[in-house]
Amino acid sequence: MTSPLRNDRFLRALRREPVDCTPVWLMRQAGRYLPEYRATRARAGSFLGMAKHPEVACEVTLQPLERFDLDAAILFSDILTVPDAMGLGLYFADGEGPKFHHPVRDAAAIARLAVPDMETELGYVMDAVRLIRRELDGKVPLIGFSGSPWTLACYMIEGGGSKDYARIKAMALNEPKALHQLLQVVTDAVVAYLAAQRAAGAQALQVFDTWGGVLSPAMYREFSLPYLARIARELERGQDAQRTPLILFGKGTGQYVAELAATGAEGVGVDWTLSLEDAARATAGKVALQGNLDPTTLYGSPEAITREVGKVLDSYAAGNGGSREGHVFNLGHGMSPDMNPEHVAVLVDAVHRLSRR
Ligand code: CP3
Repeated sequence: MTSPLRNDRFLRALRREPVDCTPVWLMRQAGRYLPEYRATRARAGSFLGMAKHPEVACEVTLQPLERFDLDAAILFSDILTVPDAMGLGLYFADGEGPKFHHPVRDAAAIARLAVPDMETELGYVMDAVRLIRRELDGKVPLIGFSGSPWTLACYMIEGGGSKDYARIKAMALNEPKALHQLLQVVTDAVVAYLAAQRAAGAQALQVFDTWGGVLSPAMYREFSLPYLARIARELERGQDAQRTPLILFGKGTGQYVAELAATGAEGVGVDWTLSLEDAARATAGKVALQGNLDPTTLYGSPEAITREVGKVLDSYAAGNGGSREGHVFNLGHGMSPDMNPEHVAVLVDAVHRLSRR
């Protein structure tokens, strides 16, 4: 049995229902900028060691909620758990970010890929979701997440991070059929992964299309958008007030906000390169919008942070007929390890105070 939700601002805002003030959570709200995270990580040994142990993942998920008045928790995990479970062998080389032992480099390797079993190969993620729900005890909703098919394919083909995406773009040009085959199986895996997180207790789901913005518009509309639309269409998520909302976040994909809103997702996350006023006008109340304070604002003074929070809140309202409903406050992208936790408290309090209805 789970307790009733005591703070439902985030879920109400995603349904565009009235709320007492604008809800806020932050991408990468659990992480190295928190000394308590660094202490847990030192004890656990590694990032993957944390993500693969549900008690540790739970502890770290809850850390930012103990400090700040956040309106949602996000599962502590990584988007690359899915390709890892597909056999690519995820590891983190010190200071180099994520890498795969077995990147996917040709059609034969693509043909061997299969959707992993969610309760065996990714059981540690589902166990973490169940444990976090129990420990949250109705305090705030829990967000589950996945990478987008395009973003996962970038890591799978490049074998890690990339500065120019040369390999995957060459495949898009030279072997588009093979790339579509890869994107199809990854989409099947993402749909199953999000459905399993929902079944385990996730109350909202976000897809991170972190590298959607590196594509030309024609390529975005061929290799990313249709797969996001398929997720929005195929992911079973219930009806009405019981519906588990799906948020599609993209970095550098503001120009497609109306197309993302047309997929049937409940929310669209935008980075700071598009004003929320323009995003709200372009989507005309069809979806809730999430965002979009430039994360580097956290390097500013408390006064500057408060001022910039006010601008984001007012920009949304200006494009939404003067109303703040349907807005979930967030950064335009994730936090960095050198950010000051005290500035996060200023941000969260400013969102609630300046948006109080
Ligand atoms: O938002 C949250 O607090 C939830 C946890 C979360 C992590 N990764 C934890 C993490 C989420 C949602 C992600 C998603 C993710 N992972 C994305 C998409 C997110 C986005 O911002 O668009 C991407 C591209 C990845 C791949 C990845 N994993 C990278 C590039 C890195 C950073 C490597 C580095 O050294 O900074 C990771 C590792 C990772 N994932 C960390 C955390 C907290 C750093 C772990 C550590 O070193 O302690």
